[in-house]
Amino acid sequence: MNELRFDGRTAIVTGAGGNPSLGRAHALLLASRGANVIVNDIDAKHAPSASTAKTVAEEIVAAGGNAVHDNNSVATEEGARAIFQTAMDTFGGVDILVNNAGIIYQAAMTEISAADFQRTIDVNLMGPAWMTRAVWQHMQDKGYGRIVNITSGSMAGFALQAAYAASKGGLFSFTRATAAEGERYGIKANAVSPAGFTRMVLGSQEEDCPSYQTTKNRMRPEQVSPVVAFLAHEDCPVTGECIDAMGGMVRRTYLATTEGIMDLDITVEKIAERWDEVIAGTSEQRVPYALMDAFKLHSKKYEAQPERL
Ligand SMILES: NC(=O)c1ccc[n+]([C@@H]2O[C@H](COP(=O)([O-])OP(=O)(O)OC[C@H]3O[C@@H](n4cnc5c(N)ncnc54)[C@H](O)[C@@H]3O)[C@@H](O)[C@H]2O)c1
Repeated sequence: MNELRFDGRTAIVTGAGGNPSLGRAHALLLASRGANVIVNDIDAKHAPSASTAKTVAEEIVAAGGNAVHDNNSVATEEGARAIFQTAMDTFGGVDILVNNAGIIYQAAMTEISAADFQRTIDVNLMGPAWMTRAVWQHMQDKGYGRIVNITSGSMAGFALQAAYAASKGGLFSFTRATAAEGERYGIKANAVSPAGFTRMVLGSQEEDCPSYQTTKNRMRPEQVSPVVAFLAHEDCPVTGECIDAMGGMVRRTYLATTEGIMDLDITVEKIAERWDEVIAGTSEQRVPYALMDAFKLHSKKYEAQPERL
C-alpha cells in the first residue's frame, strides 16, 4: 500500500508540548509525513522539564519538517482564535485539527474544588468546542476538514473522575454532532480514545496501581498516533466514530440500544415486570447510527443550511 501522506496539509495539534506525550507523538508523525504542524501548548507543567511546544516544533524542523509553536490556551474563545490565526499567518490555512489538550483531577466528588471541576470542563470540552468554532467557517468555506477529538475510556464512568468523565463524554457527543453537521461540507469529525504512558498518567495514578504498570510497560504514545493520522487523512472512511487506540489495539467504541419493549399502555408496574427485557443485552443490540440521519431528516433548519461549495 502507498504511504498515507499529508503533503500540503496543515494540522493544529493542541497540548502537544510534553515529552512523553500523546500530542507530541501525533505532531511528529503528521510532520514526518509532510504536514505543516502548529504545535500548541500552554506549557503549564512543562517549566521544569525540557520539553515545550517550542522544543517539539524545533524537533520537527530539525528532522526536516515544517512546524511552528503556539502558546495560547484552548480554554478561551480568544485563545482558540489566536491558535487558528497562527495557522493562517504561518501556513495560510488549516486542514486538520487534533483536539488533544487535556487535564485531569483524580478526586472524589466531595474533594474536587469547584474551580478544578470547572477548569476540567473548560479545557477538555470547551477547548475542543472553541477550537472547532475557530476553524469551522474556514473549513466549511473550502469544503474540507478533518477533526480528531481525543476522548477517554473514562467517559464510560470511572470512579473519582466525574469531571473528567463528563468532559470526555461531552466531547464524544460533540464529535457526533459536528460530524452530522459537517458532512455536507466535507468536514469529518471523529474521536480517539487512547492510552499511553505520559505525564498525565505519571501525575494522576499511583505507581502501585495495576493500570499504571500496564500503561508504563505496554502502551507507548507512538502506538496511538497512527490511528489519529488515519482519521486525519483525506481517505478517512468514517465520520462520527470513536476509535480506541492503546498498546497497538485498535477497535471501535459505539453507542448501542437493546431491543427493549413496546407497549402503548406502559405503566410503572409493566416496566418493573419486564425490566429484564428492557435492560438485557442481546444479539439484537443496534448501533444507533440512524440518529444522525434522523436528525437531518427532521430538521428544517439543517436543510436550510447553505450547501457545500
Ligand atoms: N495518557 C493516557 O493514557 C490517556 C488516556 C485517555 C485520554 N488521554 C487524553 O489524551 C490527551 C493527551 O494527554 P497526555 O496523556 O499526552 O498528557 P499530557 O499532560 O502530556 O498532555 C496534555 C497537554 O495539554 C496541555 N494543556 C493543558 N491545558 C491546556 C490549554 N488550556 N491549552 C493548551 N494546552 C493545554 C498540557 O500542558 C499538556 O502538555 C488528553 O486529552 C488526555 O485527556 C490520555
